[in-house]
Amino acid sequence: MLETRLLPFDRDSANQAAEFLKYGEVVAIPTETVYGLAANALNENAVRKIFKAKGRPQDNPLIVHISSMKMLPPLVREVPELANRLAEQFWGGPLTMIFAKSNAVPNVTSGGLNTVAVRMPANEAAREIIKKCGFPLAAPSANISGKPSPTTARHVFEDLNGKIPLIIDGGDCEVGVESTVICFERGKIRILRPGAVTAEMLSEFAEVIVDKAAVEELRKGESALSPGMKYKHYSPKADVYIVNAHGEEFVRYCTKRARTENNVLALGAGVAENGIFLDYGENAQLQAQRLFSLLRKADELGAKTVLVELPDRSGMGLAVYNRLLRAAAFRVIEV
Ligand code: TXA
Ligand code: MG
Repeated sequence: MLETRLLPFDRDSANQAAEFLKYGEVVAIPTETVYGLAANALNENAVRKIFKAKGRPQDNPLIVHISSMKMLPPLVREVPELANRLAEQFWGGPLTMIFAKSNAVPNVTSGGLNTVAVRMPANEAAREIIKKCGFPLAAPSANISGKPSPTTARHVFEDLNGKIPLIIDGGDCEVGVESTVICFERGKIRILRPGAVTAEMLSEFAEVIVDKAAVEELRKGESALSPGMKYKHYSPKADVYIVNAHGEEFVRYCTKRARTENNVLALGAGVAENGIFLDYGENAQLQAQRLFSLLRKADELGAKTVLVELPDRSGMGLAVYNRLLRAAAFRVIEV
């Protein structure tokens, strides 16, 4: 077993991270969305270590992180004009764009696809570490595959202690859910995974389509454009259910369930915290920040059943809903 060091972000730890990464090691780094498990995106062996540490399926491609626009052209065949305009508006930030990939990107990184997902994070630590490396970093969320994504360095430590040499602690992630993933289709934007850059924001630039797999369960035989959308995700050990009831009706329903069942936990939007109830935030921004952390907390509390109030699906709420649907294995209770 490796010794996993956990260091706060500063110049010194950024240098250490870059050294490990140059040697083909993996390092967990903060980003504004969730913590990432980074390796040199152009080094096959390094990238393989990511898949191994996470227990990630080989066919699930990674996002390649850059720190300047100069790093983009070598990774891709072409940059559509629309992508340039979106980059200008949303990079650095929680937007990932999919391009036709160049030969510089190994197949391991792209999960065997001929496309590559690229994002420029806003987070200072992430940017600084990429810059020091001088090469792009492939980085999926730094959790064990299937578990909720990590929004604190402690979450990463819980999942990957003994499996990676270094975690850089940059504090709590501001956004809390992973980046918006989009691809381009004849001048239109298709959202494969909703995030903090919302459909509403993107529609200022082009027509936006939200991919069905983002908000519905795929049927047998249907394939996902974004391979990650087909896997079970974000799950605590407890059984999660979305409850379509609000305010007092939600409280009444959950209270009733808790009378006849053990270890019920209820996450309400702006609910008063007492008994079985925890507040997951009265707006989408707060919900996004807290969701993954609360799903992990549910496990710590030994919850068997977690009932979550159906979130508002507009704006960033769609990202919260998308993650919740997967955590709940698409189970929605109509009250
Ligand atoms: O915010 C984020 O994006 C975080 C931080 C660390 O940057 N990263 C992240 O990576 O969420 P990951 O690997 O957990 O999720 C990447 C998603 C997956 O659903 C994957 O299938 C999809 O992006 N993806 C990656 N490359 C793709 C491609 N070429 N085509 C379609 N989907 C792709
Ligand atoms: Mg992930």
